[in-house]
Amino acid sequence: MAAEMPPQPHAVCLPYPAQGHIAPMLNVAKLLHARGFHVTFVNSEYNHARLVRTRGAAAMAGGAGFRFATIPDGMQAPSSGEDDDVTQDIPSLCKSTTETCLGPFRRLLAELNAAGDRPPVTCVVSDLIMGFSMDAAKELGLPYVQLWTASTVSYLGYRHYRLLIDRGIAPLKDMNQLTDGYLDMPVEDVPGLRSMRLRDFPTFIRTTDLDEFMVRYAIKETERAAGATAVILNSFGDLEGEAVEAMEPLLGDGNGKPKVYTVGPLSLLAPRSTSSTIGSLSLWKEQEECLQWLQGKEPASVVYVNFGSIVVMTNEQLVEFAWGLANSGHHFMWVIRPDLVRGDSAVLPPEFLMETAGRRLMASWCPQQEVLDHPAVGAFLTHSGWNSTLESMCGGVPVISWPFFGDQQTNCRYQCKEWGVGMEIDNNVQRDAVTGLIAELMDGEKGKQMRKRAEEWQEKAIMAAKPGGSSHRNFDELVRDVLLPKTGDSAHGVTRD
Ligand code: UDX
Repeated sequence: MAAEMPPQPHAVCLPYPAQGHIAPMLNVAKLLHARGFHVTFVNSEYNHARLVRTRGAAAMAGGAGFRFATIPDGMQAPSSGEDDDVTQDIPSLCKSTTETCLGPFRRLLAELNAAGDRPPVTCVVSDLIMGFSMDAAKELGLPYVQLWTASTVSYLGYRHYRLLIDRGIAPLKDMNQLTDGYLDMPVEDVPGLRSMRLRDFPTFIRTTDLDEFMVRYAIKETERAAGATAVILNSFGDLEGEAVEAMEPLLGDGNGKPKVYTVGPLSLLAPRSTSSTIGSLSLWKEQEECLQWLQGKEPASVVYVNFGSIVVMTNEQLVEFAWGLANSGHHFMWVIRPDLVRGDSAVLPPEFLMETAGRRLMASWCPQQEVLDHPAVGAFLTHSGWNSTLESMCGGVPVISWPFFGDQQTNCRYQCKEWGVGMEIDNNVQRDAVTGLIAELMDGEKGKQMRKRAEEWQEKAIMAAKPGGSSHRNFDELVRDVLLPKTGDSAHGVTRD
């Protein structure tokens, strides 16, 4: 008689199709692969084509027990002659994935189950902002885990948009309120959040029209997470325990469901794979010479500047940063993405280039975590994306923060006010302010304290991620209690002899 065996686990991992979301999801996928799961990692067709260019077709063909698959993102393809190596417009991408991706994702799951050359799908791990996938997973009776790739405090910021609306703080009466001091208003008694001003909430609420897509989307997606089997956070208890405690009852049905697990920093928890298949998924080609350039530099002597994958700025702002760096007198490494400057390519003054020759490295993309881990790096001028925030803590590096949009404002507030690792630069960036903050961080007493705090967080992050640490235990629990099929499970009638 055929004995009923649990199927070999097969996780389908679905990131939101942007760099800051793909990287943490890949780490979840690596962790599952290392625990014996077959993994299907789903990219958008647009990003898959970019990854083939940066990594080569062979790496994207997949390897043993780790395959790549694609679905269309629903965005209009770039017309011929248009650059197809750029970050897509985020609100448009959010709208298009929400409205068009369920059908293709549902078909993909059916194809994977019909393929016969791999185990049937046993669970789905989806980005929380790809909540449409919940329907497809539930139709098949699969455990459905959502990964929130940003900070827990930013989740609360989005989730409390309703509170801002109920208190009459949002919407704005008119756009003058963006500049007349209204945003500086303290917002007190926000469950799970400390010392918030209106300007520290994720930025989409700075609108006169609550029907704007990003406002409705943020509320809908963060509330929809209540339907997941579990939610995982790229964070750790020492850093965001209080926010996690405030998040749980917002999601729960009163019976502790869905369970919320902190499993970060994922970059420390995940195995450092040397395999070319699942090494890293970088949408731009990493310039390894960045690490060589750091070799031999004095400890904590270099300012590292990188604004992540989405920020765009004007050329005037770029020039202010340039002179701020030049006038600081410090060595610096500045990563300028090809699409960093709005509408045009970056143009730096020849005088700046002459002035800083011999103490700078300009690059277009680098292996960031390795750069931040290098002892030569003394400060990080950043936009405070959540991955960058965690990576700077893992490297023990304090920051100067120039938040751009979305969750970055909330992260910046916490870096500066609660975690003691950063100083903020005014949105209207001026060269003297840049120079002043660099001097304070690299040479001043405040800088010393911030470095000490950053090193303390580094220590705590390492403890959380190592065997026996809170994130490590949580990941084990997640696998055991949620993701592994239980004996006798036959989610879609699959049994094996
Ligand atoms: C976006 C949002 O901006 C961010 O706030 C949100 O939390 C996630 O999505 P992004 O702007 O790209 O992300 O910033 P960030 O979260 O810092 O992620 C960037 C990732 O790209 C990091 O993992 C970083 O290590 C990597 N990176 C960046 C590189 O590997 N090389 C680079 O040169 C620049």
